[in-house]
Amino acid sequence: MTDYPPPPESTHHHSRFLWSGSDQPYFCLKDQRRTLAFRDAIMEQVRPGDLVLDVGAGTGILSFFAAAAGASKVIAVEFDPMLASALRESVQANGLGDVVEVVEGDVLSAELPSDVDVVIAELIDTGLLDEMQVPVLASLKERGVAGKHTRFIPQGYETYLELVETTNEYYGFKILAPKHEWPFYAQGATAGWLESDEKLVSDRVLAFSVDFCEDELPAHVSRSVTFDCAPGSHPNAVRLSGVALLSDTLSIGACNSLNGDKVLPLAPFQSESMACFRVLCELGGGLGSFRMIREQEASSPSA
Ligand SMILES: C[S@@+](CC[C@H](N)C(=O)[O-])C[C@H]1O[C@@H](n2cnc3c(N)ncnc32)[C@H](O)[C@@H]1O
Repeated sequence: MTDYPPPPESTHHHSRFLWSGSDQPYFCLKDQRRTLAFRDAIMEQVRPGDLVLDVGAGTGILSFFAAAAGASKVIAVEFDPMLASALRESVQANGLGDVVEVVEGDVLSAELPSDVDVVIAELIDTGLLDEMQVPVLASLKERGVAGKHTRFIPQGYETYLELVETTNEYYGFKILAPKHEWPFYAQGATAGWLESDEKLVSDRVLAFSVDFCEDELPAHVSRSVTFDCAPGSHPNAVRLSGVALLSDTLSIGACNSLNGDKVLPLAPFQSESMACFRVLCELGGGLGSFRMIREQEASSPSA
């Protein structure tokens, strides 16, 4: 067996709680639709003189938009040491040393001021499952960092579900792993991507929404959801999609780095015209916490 040198010390955190690396923030930066939508929301929400907290600042682009909107101070929290160091350099390169302060650390434990005017947080993964948006915002509220008058960008999130039929066939094998259907995969075979064979067989139903401005944020979801199905179809998967509500007037659904649809396997069944399920998940608990359990059609429509 060949002896390989030990890998360099990694700054890459990958657990249910910490999810980082320099690739993801660059992916976000390059996603023009996402980034310009956030810029519009920041220009709309941040007022001259505001104290702004940018949670998970990454490249710092959202902090720079907040500074451009007139914030007197932006605290940019980033726990990845390499990203935090690059961000300090970017702050200097933009002459924003008086406005943007980089705090290197975990936003769940970093020392932060009370009652900031605006929290900008893009720790969003479709359905608020894989990333820590909700636990992080809950912690900021508990600690008084965000108070009664704090504005949030985004201010809320909606998660939708649709039933799907799919062969799960990949190169002659059945693959039951979660499918992350980013919009760019729709470029198809000419761009080198395997075509997807998912067929939607129900309406798109709002499964749950979270208002980030509420005093108390839910840690879990447990709701009944009823689908209108194509009669005689055989759903064996569910497609999750999400919309981030950036402000009262701005929202953003699936784009190249945010809110890509997820398709998760479901116990197969033959559908009548309606199908009821209880949807259970832990917000920030990972895709693995998501469950859909068949309910009797006669049960109450929502909980
Ligand atoms: C999806 S990127 C977003 C970057 C940037 N805010 C943007 O929108 O372009 C999320 C960033 O948050 C950082 N992050 C995630 N959890 C964090 C935590 N608990 N404390 C501090 N930073 C965190 C990651 O290292 C990553 O750089």
